[in-house]
Amino acid sequence: MRITPSILTADFTRLGETIDSAINAGIDWIHLDVMDGNWVVNRTITFGPALIRSIRERVGPEIFLDCHLMVTNAEETWKQYVDAGVDLVIAHIEAIEDPGALISNLHSSGVKAGLVLNPDTDTSTILPYLSDLDLVLVMSVVPGKGGQSFMPEVEEKVRTFRSAIDKQKANGGRETLLMIDGGIKSHNANLVANWGIDIAVVGSGLINNKGTISENLDEIISAINN
Ligand code: DX5
Ligand code: ZN
Repeated sequence: MRITPSILTADFTRLGETIDSAINAGIDWIHLDVMDGNWVVNRTITFGPALIRSIRERVGPEIFLDCHLMVTNAEETWKQYVDAGVDLVIAHIEAIEDPGALISNLHSSGVKAGLVLNPDTDTSTILPYLSDLDLVLVMSVVPGKGGQSFMPEVEEKVRTFRSAIDKQKANGGRETLLMIDGGIKSHNANLVANWGIDIAVVGSGLINNKGTISENLDEIISAINN
């Protein structure tokens, strides 16, 4: 299982240095949480395409950037994130009307396409699109802020997607990646790795006042391997 940092809990005045530290620690994928002040329950605003463009310029072409869109109008605004330089756009199934059209627009623009669901949304909303998806993201917190507690009850959703993806791969289909986001720390990283997660987003577990990103990452990686 690989780890990607969410920069949500970073000191934004020192974001460049934080990203450099993550890359020096061995990170090659960064998760960008976009909230528009409307879609998440607590109405948070985080950042948008302008900041993402600066991040792309700083990290160069080698680092993989995904953007997790927690916005009301992903079907109207997705192109701004593509133009800002992301490699993968992940849209909430609860927030869009025509997932098939969005997926095909993203692919035609040369980027990867992902869908994400909230802890209380049924897997049946996403499964019909699985064969066209590069990534499925299962939220293990209600989106809105970093530092929330992990919800272990999402296990069943993860296992449903894991077996559907494995079946798809065995039939020669797309190698869709399975990601989890919210409340992942060293104490539960091994658990979600055993559920069959490919990539875990870690925010406050990596960027905090307890240790450096490199120390925190080492702790999580050794927890996964034990
Ligand atoms: C939640 C976001 C996250 C999350 C990760 O709305 O999508 O990516 O903040 O942060 P931690 O790991 O602190 O839960
Ligand atoms: Zn996220």
